[in-house]
Amino acid sequence: MSIGIDKIGLATAKYRLDMADLALARDTDPNKYSVGLMLDSLSIAPITEDIVTLGAAAAEQILTEADRARIDMVIVATESSIDQSKAAAVFIHGLLGIQPFARSLEMKEACYSATAALNYAKLHVASKPDSKVLVIASDIAKYGIGSSGEPTQGSGALAMLVTSQPRILAFNDDNVAQTRDVMDFWRPNYSSTPFVQGMFSTKQYLDCLKTTWAEFQKRNQAQLQDFAAFCFHIPYPKLANKGLNKLLDKSLSEEKVEELKANFQASISYSRQIGNIYTGSLYLGFLSLLENSHSLKAGQKIAFFSYGSGAVAEIFSGQLVAGFEKMLDSNRQAQLDQRQKLTVPAYEKLFFEEAHFDDQGNADFDNYDTHTFALERIDHHQRLYKRKEESYDN
Ligand code: HMG
Repeated sequence: MSIGIDKIGLATAKYRLDMADLALARDTDPNKYSVGLMLDSLSIAPITEDIVTLGAAAAEQILTEADRARIDMVIVATESSIDQSKAAAVFIHGLLGIQPFARSLEMKEACYSATAALNYAKLHVASKPDSKVLVIASDIAKYGIGSSGEPTQGSGALAMLVTSQPRILAFNDDNVAQTRDVMDFWRPNYSSTPFVQGMFSTKQYLDCLKTTWAEFQKRNQAQLQDFAAFCFHIPYPKLANKGLNKLLDKSLSEEKVEELKANFQASISYSRQIGNIYTGSLYLGFLSLLENSHSLKAGQKIAFFSYGSGAVAEIFSGQLVAGFEKMLDSNRQAQLDQRQKLTVPAYEKLFFEEAHFDDQGNADFDNYDTHTFALERIDHHQRLYKRKEESYDN
């Protein structure tokens, strides 16, 4: 039975910060960001847009009533949790009106966990071929003003519907994972921004790629030649580019190298404009590849490199399904272009705003532009979400 990704939705914040403006404010050569990191802008989420609103908006784009009646598992992969106990998936299950007899949970391992979620979804569908699993990767990446990671922030969510007979990508059964206990990037409970050993983290990323790829090749008798494209976790596109260059070897024909490089450029188009969205970054790269490549064809194989600091890495592959082009959104770039541009002071105010609670645990927020859903207020420590046209006061 073929199992894989049937639909993909994307939501990113409605505000953007241009890297050229950030460079000016941080007294940095703009080429460092545009060429050195390969980033043009970042999506900036206001306080009323969180992993729940982004995740629900990404899923809302792709779900029909029939899907809502058949989904029996909702998994949210994230490292920007809004609650230590209640899973974001439970909020999203409610907001989307998914039938009640479903399992909803949250998964965590830095940027990696959406890959584990897809694998769990695959196992679930293998045992219940009629069911559909909604996998959402949703994060807000915040490093702090003036930090080395600041230009690699971002926010967004990918929603993927995993089914039998998928219409975009059929998973191959070839996953190879690696775990190594390192402190390259971590965020203790008491800190709202991560601690990072930046250069060490890039070395871990590249070494995990090299060693996991070697093991993947050995176990699956695979060659780079077999793939039309290699999608990477994209903390910033330049690092993924280094990853691709590490894999290219002399045995490849010039045409194959050209194809892999052209498809790589297609895969980083959205990340260049959105930034790092942690768990969703790899799948944002995949969506960007699908919607921007000029050469992809049904039947071709795509490789995926998932990396989450800490660290867990995984390589797996899938095969493009006939008709995959019909499942894409030709209007995506226009939506990204519609994001409202922020000045640097406006970005600093918006992105780092925190809730101010009264002594009953209530907090209200200014009215910001969000996707389909918004965090309306916090009422006695309970987060209350609304569809944009609705209000709890109505
Ligand atoms: P930095 O200060 O930007 O480092 O920090 P840099 O000074 O080495 O500059 C970066 C690149 O810009 C270099 O290119 C420079 O040469 C170039 P490279 O040598 O790498 O090819 N450059 C210029 N290019 C053109 N014109 C110029 C110019 N100046 C410099 N004028 C660092 C980089 C990664 C440390 C920082 O961005 C950071 O801390 N980021 C956050 C951590 C991160 O993203 N790590 C990636 C691996 S870990 C990961 O992927 C997991 C993660 O997603 C989290 C998770 O799993 O949850 C982060």
